[in-house]
Amino acid sequence: MAKAKVEFVPLKDSLGVEARGVDIKNMDDETFKTIYQAWLDHGGLMLIREQELECPDILKFSERFGEIDMPRKTRIDHDPWMPQFPQFIRITDLKSEDGEVLGALGNGEAYWHSDMTYLDEIPRASILYSCEVPDEGGETGFLSMHEAIETMPAELRQKIEGKVQLHDHVHNAAGWATPNWEEQTDPRDTPGARHPMIIKHPETGRAALLIGRRPYAYIHDYELDESEKILDEIWAHATQEKFSWHHAWEPGDMLIWDNFAVMHHRNPFKDTKRRVMLRTQIKGPRPIAA
Ligand SMILES: [Fe+2]
Repeated sequence: MAKAKVEFVPLKDSLGVEARGVDIKNMDDETFKTIYQAWLDHGGLMLIREQELECPDILKFSERFGEIDMPRKTRIDHDPWMPQFPQFIRITDLKSEDGEVLGALGNGEAYWHSDMTYLDEIPRASILYSCEVPDEGGETGFLSMHEAIETMPAELRQKIEGKVQLHDHVHNAAGWATPNWEEQTDPRDTPGARHPMIIKHPETGRAALLIGRRPYAYIHDYELDESEKILDEIWAHATQEKFSWHHAWEPGDMLIWDNFAVMHHRNPFKDTKRRVMLRTQIKGPRPIAA
């Protein structure tokens, strides 16, 4: 295989890196090792542009990161278009002629979140490849959860030190109650996983804030109104514009992010525009406290 000369260009001071000179379809093990290390070193976010990939190419590259986390068969995640590639979730607003939803998430905003923190074991990496994108809207934003905890005022950090948060399973990143669950309105009763709020990264050991999604979150050992107040303060700190970086997609772009290190967000786009993305996920461990 061809030896690539890869160049790494940071996306933002403390978050993310673009790997240039990469050909995902023809990558030797040594190049992958370099890419993986750069991904870890730059806070778990990597951009690779100008790729022309088919599902098998994305799959082969994804498998280098670890075991594929198979999509769960919910109504919106099941993809009848690609029965031969059950490892993928298609993120799209497309509908069939009779109005059937043909992918996940529609065209609305997807609020800041980490993927699937409502499970005991959360996906380590999410890999998103763009096939078709609108000329405006649909940008994906990222926030460093390492930076969020490292810059948190001490008195705020103290309030969540050693605390465990309940991560709501009922609502998706667009805010809807997913069809597998009945609507829940009390965050204390919502089904979902419990995770430490300050975690130790499974590979680098660096501390990170893990807060999943804001709606219906609950911090154990606090009264509900106190939990709400602290969560609002934590979210106001963690989601400051100065910590974020947004990507305006071009077809052929790939982003790889680490759910133990970043949160992400998607801007809405016009429902007359086509946006088609393919996503794989890599299995991860249960988060442990820092
Ligand atoms: Fe997501």
